[in-house]
Amino acid sequence: MGRVAELAGVSVRTLHHYDAIGLVQPSGRTAAGYRAYAAGDMERLREVPAYRRLGFGLREIAELVDDPSADAVAHLHRLRGLLLERRDRADEMVTAIDRELSTRAKGLEVTPEEQLNLLGARLYDTIGDAYTATRRTDPRIAAQIWDALGDARTVLNVGAGTGSYEPADRRVTAVEPSAVMRGQRPPGSAPCIDAPAECLPFADRSFDVAMAVSTVHHWGDPIAGLREMRRVARRVVVLTFDTDEPGWQDRFWLTRDYLPEFTGVLAEFPSLAGMADAIGARADPVPVPWDCADGLFEAYWRRPGAYLEERVRRAMSVWTRVGPEAEGRAVRSLGDDLASGRWAERNGDLAGLDAADLGPV
Ligand SMILES: C[S@@+](CC[C@H](N)C(=O)[O-])C[C@H]1O[C@@H](n2cnc3c(N)ncnc32)[C@H](O)[C@@H]1O
Repeated sequence: MGRVAELAGVSVRTLHHYDAIGLVQPSGRTAAGYRAYAAGDMERLREVPAYRRLGFGLREIAELVDDPSADAVAHLHRLRGLLLERRDRADEMVTAIDRELSTRAKGLEVTPEEQLNLLGARLYDTIGDAYTATRRTDPRIAAQIWDALGDARTVLNVGAGTGSYEPADRRVTAVEPSAVMRGQRPPGSAPCIDAPAECLPFADRSFDVAMAVSTVHHWGDPIAGLREMRRVARRVVVLTFDTDEPGWQDRFWLTRDYLPEFTGVLAEFPSLAGMADAIGARADPVPVPWDCADGLFEAYWRRPGAYLEERVRRAMSVWTRVGPEAEGRAVRSLGDDLASGRWAERNGDLAGLDAADLGPV
């Protein structure tokens, strides 16, 4: 009995308990009346504690091990799958903890959202339903992107969202890991596959061009995602954000004067030079027009009152990433400065500009 318990990795008491509740009953008894476990009993004895350690209740385990359609091999496969899932979850948690430790080590504030690891597609599954209120194609930005596509006939759009910048005159395939975003794609838009940029389910060189617009800063591993794009397409076109220029935080009055926490949001973001290197790209600035139709973070640089509107902010992930405290303070402070004329005093030079170079490249 002690040997059986040892082999199964449980105590003799547990073995008695399993027997008493009918979960693992020995097939026979020795002449002296001791429990005798046959090979089949031992298999069951291996499965029960394994399911138990995975958090299953005894009643659920009884159903699993009594399932006549599952043999020992099926149980091993099931247990293996459950353990791998658990290992992936643990890996994700370790990555999130490492990210938070490194953010804290840099003395930057960790937002409640970062603590919850609300990033990437999970972030968009949470905030994505507010996206279409203000996010749509800006024709001038679109023209620059489509120009960069050159004569490509097949286009992969990675982190495609609702498809704002998908060209109508080429064969587009979209990739988008957020179900909420996929669900908001207009009827008739390009077929959309559920996958992250870091692991594109396509063979090498499947497309003429792979494009990614306003999405790279959301990826868990931007460089890996860019390399994947390079692998599956002959050419790569990306609209992203330049944080290489010293003092980039001061380029835009909103981050300079009201939302310094934006720096923390991009703390882990690779340098533009590093990203360009990964795909052998050159960088061109993408000016943001004063009346930009796409409500991206910098869109309202000449229309500051827009940032006071909840629906405008909810369609920009930055506000969720910095957390409600920073958001409330920034909005109050901007509102005060607009009312007192202080914003206009500081930013009077913007009134005459039609477009501004604020970081998108
Ligand atoms: C700001 S939206 C941009 C959507 C679209 N490209 C556009 O320009 O309107 C960012 C998108 O990136 C997606 N995303 C987040 N993590 C991703 C990842 N690892 N791989 C691909 N897309 C991701 C989000 O789900 C979201 O739809």
